[in-house]
Amino acid sequence: MRILAFESSCDETAVAVVEDGRRVLSDAILSQADMHALYGGVVPEIASRKHVEAIAALTEQSLRDAGVGRDEIDAIAVTYGPGLIGALLVAVSFAKSVALAWKKPLVPVHHVRGHIAANYLAFPELEPPFLALCISGGNTMLVDVKGYTEMEILGATRDDAAGECFDKAARVLGLPYPGGKPMDGLAQGGDDTAYALPRSKVDGAELDMSFSGLKTAVVNLVHNAGQKGEPLDRAGLAASFAAAVSDELVPRTIQAARQQGRSTVIAAGGVAANSRIRRDLQRACQAAGLRLYLPPLALCGDNAAMIGCQAFYELAQGAAADMRLNAYANLEI
Ligand code: KG4
Repeated sequence: MRILAFESSCDETAVAVVEDGRRVLSDAILSQADMHALYGGVVPEIASRKHVEAIAALTEQSLRDAGVGRDEIDAIAVTYGPGLIGALLVAVSFAKSVALAWKKPLVPVHHVRGHIAANYLAFPELEPPFLALCISGGNTMLVDVKGYTEMEILGATRDDAAGECFDKAARVLGLPYPGGKPMDGLAQGGDDTAYALPRSKVDGAELDMSFSGLKTAVVNLVHNAGQKGEPLDRAGLAASFAAAVSDELVPRTIQAARQQGRSTVIAAGGVAANSRIRRDLQRACQAAGLRLYLPPLALCGDNAAMIGCQAFYELAQGAAADMRLNAYANLEI
């Protein structure tokens, strides 16, 4: 079973061919990040237009890389949410056209389910059930993955996503967009106790998180230092910030795994590339006797291979859509 998969939920256009769920035959990605960096963040209208420009050529490239023709493709998969609505619509419309013209089943895939599935590509032995910490630019949630297509959200951010918070902190520190990676670099060698930053607690919902207070604290700290002409320990601030984000995520991940009786934990999404979070997860899981899977950095960010992987399992459950398929900015997992 070969699936041609599309992803355009944010600022990466991606097309992949995946065989039998776990074998990636091609994985073409075109990032628009450099262009959005000019504006300090993703400009949705520009993102949509760039997806339109890129998607046809990228599809040809992906099929060429995989060495397969249309007759060797069995199904078409596409991310249909959550994400930027105009951006999502590009791949959804394109995938519908291909499915119609080629007479193939069309499989809609939830973006975060795709991020989780990235781990199946990296770790052949990995199977549900497990606890997933999903941390990206638009989503932050703890998901109990009971089966390939059966999931329950145990906790989520009440406001900003972890990646959004990294990007905002990076911006006030004058780092380029997307700011997570440069923040990670700046934090290396920094003193993580240099600044006292807040940790959140959501009354009555221990597994829920909040990042807006942390974001505001960093913005105020940088602005105050600027106004008073005080020197800023930039590396110390980046390290203290990474520690604060990690403290939001890691203890709750362990708590959620224990609560659900899971023995395996995985991380997923762009922020799962963060070195502090990876180190803290490793230590905490080891101490708690939990098996941990961390996706390789190349599979943390948006890609279409993860969509093709998840689509294999969705299709096995009969999750094919028809030409009425729409895109959704917000979508339940
Ligand atoms: O998963 P992703 O590529 O896109 C979404 O689905 O949202 O995640 C992008 C996010 C951005 O906010 C980016 O700054 C963040 O992942 N990110 C990182 C790191 N690398 C990327 N955040 C922290 N540390 C990193 N090393």
